[in-house]
Amino acid sequence: MTVQFPADFVFGAATASYQIEGAVAEGGRRPSIWDTFSHTPGKVERGETGDVACDHYHRVSEDVALMRQLGLDSYRFSLAWPRIKPDDGPVNPAGLAFYDELVDELLAAGIEPAVTLYHWDLPQALEDRGGWRERDTAERFADYAAVAADHLGDRVKRWITLNEPFCSSILGYADGVHAPGAQEGEGALKAAHHLLLGHGIAAQRIRSSVPGAQVGITLNLASVQQVSESSADLEAAQRNLLIGNLIFTDPVLAGSYPELGKQVWSPITDFSWIAGDDLSTIAQPLDFLGVNFYFPSRPRAVAHQVADPAQRVASDLGFESVLHEGEYLTEMGWPVDAGAFTALLTWLQGRYGDALPPIHITENGIACPDVVGPDGRIDDQDRIRYVGDHLKAVKDAMDKGVDIRGYYVWSLMDNFEWARGYQPRFGLLHVDYDTLQRTPKASFDWYRNVIATHQIP
Ligand code: FCB
Repeated sequence: MTVQFPADFVFGAATASYQIEGAVAEGGRRPSIWDTFSHTPGKVERGETGDVACDHYHRVSEDVALMRQLGLDSYRFSLAWPRIKPDDGPVNPAGLAFYDELVDELLAAGIEPAVTLYHWDLPQALEDRGGWRERDTAERFADYAAVAADHLGDRVKRWITLNEPFCSSILGYADGVHAPGAQEGEGALKAAHHLLLGHGIAAQRIRSSVPGAQVGITLNLASVQQVSESSADLEAAQRNLLIGNLIFTDPVLAGSYPELGKQVWSPITDFSWIAGDDLSTIAQPLDFLGVNFYFPSRPRAVAHQVADPAQRVASDLGFESVLHEGEYLTEMGWPVDAGAFTALLTWLQGRYGDALPPIHITENGIACPDVVGPDGRIDDQDRIRYVGDHLKAVKDAMDKGVDIRGYYVWSLMDNFEWARGYQPRFGLLHVDYDTLQRTPKASFDWYRNVIATHQIP
């Protein structure tokens, strides 16, 4: 059945600086934690790095022309902190000039810029001083945010402070699978808290700098499904909800940390690093909440990796997500369940009610085995099905009363998929990494039609 979106619903596409820009040593840019991590043997598949990526840094006009062809209402991209304040030192005019060029081209093409301030590329110089484990990094982030807002705020109104603090803190400082590759207990919890504190201070700074700013944060959230009635699995589900959602959504939307977190992590920290008014700083009023969703979570209880509770990393909570026998998996190995997206959105509404600001879906998409046909075409029907089903799931949630204003597909183009390198392809545009040529896939034409008609066929 055809599904119709409201006329003012925003259709966009998203990318991030380190994943597409390349030119890592140009225009005064200095290393971020992802340069260091990707150049460390064994961290990224096939030893791939973002050194060249999609070379977007040199192809702004070409890429914006493709966005115009697609008919995007809005383009979500991130600013590279290590371009704007290399080594977190003095402001680098060449870094700002690059984003001036991009923003001006977007506006000339009639596309709203939606800026993410932090999509994981912390200046390495700050990591050398402790990174997000340190309270001072929250202040450094807010200073950088203020520079960006002061400079671009006359043209950019939509600001996203952080992308997925779960990944920056838990994947980066507990699991160690993302930069900076640390495996810690207390350090990862401090990182999560200082990221949120940085969000709160930055939100205040953006608002005071940019009249009419729309300020939000993007969270990747778990849609937790119960796998059995056993008390162990029920407890696993509680812990999944805690680390995947509540330690981010509760402070941001309700100004408190969940009690369960205090219990679960008391063996690894005394929480003395949470200062008295931090939570009121974190719980800034927001104009929107960015939600990223890819796959459902099905937690089953398993043994902790480390027996001694005081020695565990912060994410060693005694559960793992299970797959169904023989189910379709994406190139990332992720199961697909669009209904879980609706369930997540209605869960948010149910838990936070009037405290929930309007939602923008800031990422959703799929990596599939795109085959370039003999005629050069990529007939990515898996992607069309996935995005179509998930857009319908968004509309279902809207029909159930959740206020959702926009949707950004991940991603505009194939790019550097973090620890997985260039193999998983998420783009509407295919990128040939030898020639850097962009080729629209079938999904590009399909999405153009969605944007033009506001209908999902
Ligand atoms: C999200 C990231 C984004 C992209 C997608 C697939 O976690 O925000 O950069 O890698 O996953």
